[in-house]
Amino acid sequence: MAENLPREPWWQGAVLYHIYVRSWQDSNDDGYGDLRGVISRLDYLRWLGVDAIWLSPTMPSPDADWGYDVSDYTGVHPELGTLDDMDALIEAAAGAGLRVLLDLVPNHTSSAHPWFIDAASARDSAHRDFYVWADPAPGGGPPSNWLDPTGQSAWQWDDGTGQYYLHNYLPEQADLNWWEPAVHAEFGQILTFWFERGIAGFRIDVAHGLYKDALLRDNPVSLDHGPLGGRFGFSPAYSANRPETHAVYREWRRIAERYAPPKLLLGETWTGDFSELSRFYGDHDELQLAFNFPFVFSEFSAPALAGVVTQTLAHLPAGACPVWTASNHDVGRFATRWCGDDERKIRLALLVMTTLPGTVVLYYGDEIGMPDVDVPADARRDLMSPAGPASRDRGRTPMRWDATENAGFTSATVRPWLPVGDMAGSDVADQMRDPDSMLSFCRRLIAWRRAEFGGRVAGYELLSSAADSWSYRAGEVTVLANFSGQRRPAAPPAGRFLLASWGTEPPAGDFGIEPWQGLVYRTS
Ligand code: GLC
Ligand code: CA
Repeated sequence: MAENLPREPWWQGAVLYHIYVRSWQDSNDDGYGDLRGVISRLDYLRWLGVDAIWLSPTMPSPDADWGYDVSDYTGVHPELGTLDDMDALIEAAAGAGLRVLLDLVPNHTSSAHPWFIDAASARDSAHRDFYVWADPAPGGGPPSNWLDPTGQSAWQWDDGTGQYYLHNYLPEQADLNWWEPAVHAEFGQILTFWFERGIAGFRIDVAHGLYKDALLRDNPVSLDHGPLGGRFGFSPAYSANRPETHAVYREWRRIAERYAPPKLLLGETWTGDFSELSRFYGDHDELQLAFNFPFVFSEFSAPALAGVVTQTLAHLPAGACPVWTASNHDVGRFATRWCGDDERKIRLALLVMTTLPGTVVLYYGDEIGMPDVDVPADARRDLMSPAGPASRDRGRTPMRWDATENAGFTSATVRPWLPVGDMAGSDVADQMRDPDSMLSFCRRLIAWRRAEFGGRVAGYELLSSAADSWSYRAGEVTVLANFSGQRRPAAPPAGRFLLASWGTEPPAGDFGIEPWQGLVYRTS
């Protein structure tokens, strides 16, 4: 096994920056962010110091689910740009020292994809078996109890050919049938197509979902009603999470390893089970990185976070690199979810994520403490989530670049595709000018992290965790974190003071950690 261990690949210890392209920068005043917009802001990312960007889906799509319903895997969505723009972006990013990851959606295609149109044209069509078709249950009705995210049956009746097709997401997102070898062949070519164009790898959508139970057995009842427990009281034991999916990642890893450096496969591995999570790394022959949803959905408290970190590290195979992230386009922003928009808590969360051993994924705006934004029902864009407090739109609103109308995202006269919201003072330009701002702090953290952890996974040792405090050693540093609103007296750690999430080094005589403060010391 030892010869399989990764040799300090670039993504180990790196900071990845997740851009929801439609919301980051509009270059042509149509109210939608686009690839030319990303190119125009690469200098900012170089200044911030991140290693790579992950772009939300960029392929052509009817946008029932904003790009997660792909109708052409080797193109670029005309609203976002052209293939030439993508080539220009990859090249400009390389010039700025940044790698580019794209979002790949292999679990399903758009119902407007030519494969599906052909599949639905006749039972004996060439692409019929690309999708999951089934007859009604013996007593009539859908073939199994599987549900989509809105609580409707995941089976859609197709009148034309007299069978149901599966959609684990919206009816416009037909699930591919990974039992069909031709689907593997197509995706092998899609991977190669993009790798050859110079991208550094893929974030893989619904990475846990590709294979479905061959017998289409009913999902069992789930007693876990949390976000990782399943859908509407049923665990997705048969509609997703099948063991056969791992073979796909071994295939793809072999393709990724043809390149130097190898291409990166980062999975959206939606599971609450640490053993299942660790299985996605395989024996260093599947995904190199797997999103850690127990961390994402952890409570923002010392025992909860410390517990997730311990569990994660205990389960991951030796030498595997964990991923720490707390915001994304589905779950919303940690500034609001974890921190109730309290700046001290946001800084503490950033400090913790960037001092843990592993790879960090920041969602655009995390670095300025951007909060979720209320999106009125008449401005709703996401169909998969309900309008209101649970809407995914709240975490997808435009980047706040400056204090102009529309925050520099698009020109003042244009209506942005989602509202910018009211966030006086929390923009990039303002925070760049202030050496004590959250943005300046985040930039210092990233620079410090690169110097300290670049290219390796530091060891982790839990020193203590209590109801409202957590301290640990990571590599050569010691972190002390106060997860409470009270100042906590403490014994000063050995070593040299490096940084505080806010405020200054505590005085030696009266050592203590300020409310919601994190302190970092160098032990040697
Ligand atoms: C993933 C994406 C989400 C999308 C779903 C279906 O969970 O992150 O945005 O709706 O897959 O593609
Ligand atoms: Ca645009």
